[in-house]
Amino acid sequence: MVPVIEFQNVTKEYRSLFGRRRFRALDGFNLQVESGEIFGFLGPNGAGKTTAIHLAMGFMLPTSGRGRLLGERFGHAATRSRVGFLPENVALYPRRAEQLVRFYGALNSMKASQLNQRAGQVLEMVGLQDDAKRNVSKFSRGMLQRVGLAQALVNDPELLILDEPTSALDPLARVAVRELLLRARSAGKTIFLSSHLLSEVELVCDRVAVLHRGRLVRLGKTADLLESGERSQIVARGIAAALFPGATARDGVVTFSVGTQQQRAVLEQIWNLGGEVISVNPERRSLEEIFLEVTGGIESPVSRGTQ
Ligand SMILES: Nc1ncnc2c1ncn2[C@@H]1O[C@H](COP(=O)(O)OP(=O)(O)O)[C@@H](O)[C@H]1O
Ligand SMILES: [Mg+2]
Repeated sequence: MVPVIEFQNVTKEYRSLFGRRRFRALDGFNLQVESGEIFGFLGPNGAGKTTAIHLAMGFMLPTSGRGRLLGERFGHAATRSRVGFLPENVALYPRRAEQLVRFYGALNSMKASQLNQRAGQVLEMVGLQDDAKRNVSKFSRGMLQRVGLAQALVNDPELLILDEPTSALDPLARVAVRELLLRARSAGKTIFLSSHLLSEVELVCDRVAVLHRGRLVRLGKTADLLESGERSQIVARGIAAALFPGATARDGVVTFSVGTQQQRAVLEQIWNLGGEVISVNPERRSLEEIFLEVTGGIESPVSRGTQ
């Protein structure tokens, strides 16, 4: 199958004001996003996420390398109407929300008759049905981000590219966006979502790429990246917590973690003591820990978000 988004050895250098110094924002970047997945594009601020997205959208040209979007080279004009794009900083004309959404739909050559109904639908999808007739100049940043999302959805695109879609949203709106993305995936859409918030990506993405200083430093299934494979969490009953280093006990249930190598011996020890093993699960790392590993713990520019 043809990848939905493909970067082939893409480098992007920005010139300083007088063109003397160059700054490499993206460095030999390779990536393939497959059809039907929710793909998380993760990295601290300044990693190069927005740069990569703007290249894919054809807003600027790479310094070297090339890429394809829905099978066409980056910047192919007609492909744009098959993509819904939410920019990192939503800037909108001071118009009524529904007017704006219709405007963007019309840009994608949708018919006026179609648009009236569709504008209402997408504003409802982002929870703005009661604000449809209000001027967006009075909107909060979170509301603007939701109008931006409605705008991205209006033409029912097969690919959604969302640059930090939940950065301005409160926890409830974040949950709503997450559901919206899952529904879009069920409808067969592909979603490419950038975020510096690990908690956002962790919960919805099938695969994630981690970008650091313009380079791809991790790529894989979210679950695989999160499982360290090195330690397991053991939950047992009928044993004394004091016998197991680091164990905590609550209502007679003892929980502790062991290295995979000791796992078998520890389970036998529990059984020999007449205890009962309730569960053994691989311990999950947070994406934050993965970041610290990648950056050598020197920087920790990543927050876990608010929930
Ligand atoms: N137009 C530009 N001119 C010069 N430097 C830029 C420009 N846009 C971004 N940068 C720099 O490129 C790096 C990557 O930025 P960006 O792609 O916005 O990262 P992210 O979206 O991951 O936060 C940053 O160091 C940023 O300062
Ligand atoms: Mg950005």
